[in-house]
Amino acid sequence: MSSPGPTPRPALAVSCEGVARTFGRGERAVVAVHGSSCEVPFGARIAIVGPSGSGKSTMLHIMAGLETPTAGRVSWPGLPATDAERRAQIGVVFQSPSLVPALTVAENVALPLVLAGVPDAEAEERVTEALELVQVSELATQLPEELSGGQAQRVAVARVLASRPSLILADEPTGQLDRANGQHLVDVLLATAEELDAALVVSTHDIEVADRLKDRWLMHEGRLNTDEAWLNHSRAPRGPQASATTVGDRR
Ligand SMILES: Nc1ncnc2c1ncn2[C@@H]1O[C@H](COP(=O)(O)OP(=O)(O)OP(=O)(O)O)[C@@H](O)[C@H]1O
Ligand SMILES: [Mg+2]
Repeated sequence: MSSPGPTPRPALAVSCEGVARTFGRGERAVVAVHGSSCEVPFGARIAIVGPSGSGKSTMLHIMAGLETPTAGRVSWPGLPATDAERRAQIGVVFQSPSLVPALTVAENVALPLVLAGVPDAEAEERVTEALELVQVSELATQLPEELSGGQAQRVAVARVLASRPSLILADEPTGQLDRANGQHLVDVLLATAEELDAALVVSTHDIEVADRLKDRWLMHEGRLNTDEAWLNHSRAPRGPQASATTVGDRR
């Protein structure tokens, strides 16, 4: 008789149902995200594109569990139920690299591993590998203040890759890179997601980067559109985009 084997994990890394996020109150309230729903399976390779201020970062922070939605529901069916364990499986590349100034590049990449209790020898191996992947090995002993914006961005990506997450959320990870380095970084993110069987969501202004991912979603005035039909429309020339909607403006 064959054994039943391990229970397969649910296929969704993250699910959002009608999520919204408002910042501030009253007249000054800004609806950064509203009425947005999506499902991100582990095999997903998704680009979120949209104009500045349309809510991409806020949406990614909601998916990461870093921002609590003011309405709707976010859940992580395929990730651990406890907050700490789940957080350890979600890797966020922030739009601003946010490296710890007093630590070297290698120490910055090692930090989440040390905090997670990864043994020293394994942590060292993972740090070396991650720095090689994003082609910044020679910067291992530098301090963040000695890095260019693009180098810091690559180190921030290395820090996420080294922690081997199951859900990778990268907020404009190529924003400060030239075309060749940007394309290489996308290669690395795609290869890592494949190797880890992770879900990958990348926000970007760059349509060339978006085209490298399997699916493209549009964020527009705080609303996430997961239907690809917008794509041709969005590439046609058009007038200036509005940014986020203020509550007072809406009706
Ligand atoms: N902490 C905050 N407090 C107040 N307003 C905020 C906050 N975070 C974001 N917003 C507002 O929410 C809206 C959406 O911001 P968000 O950063 O999500 O946009 P974005 O699409 O990531 O923009 P960009 O492409 O410039 O990074 C903006 O109007 C922004 O000013
Ligand atoms: Mg942003």
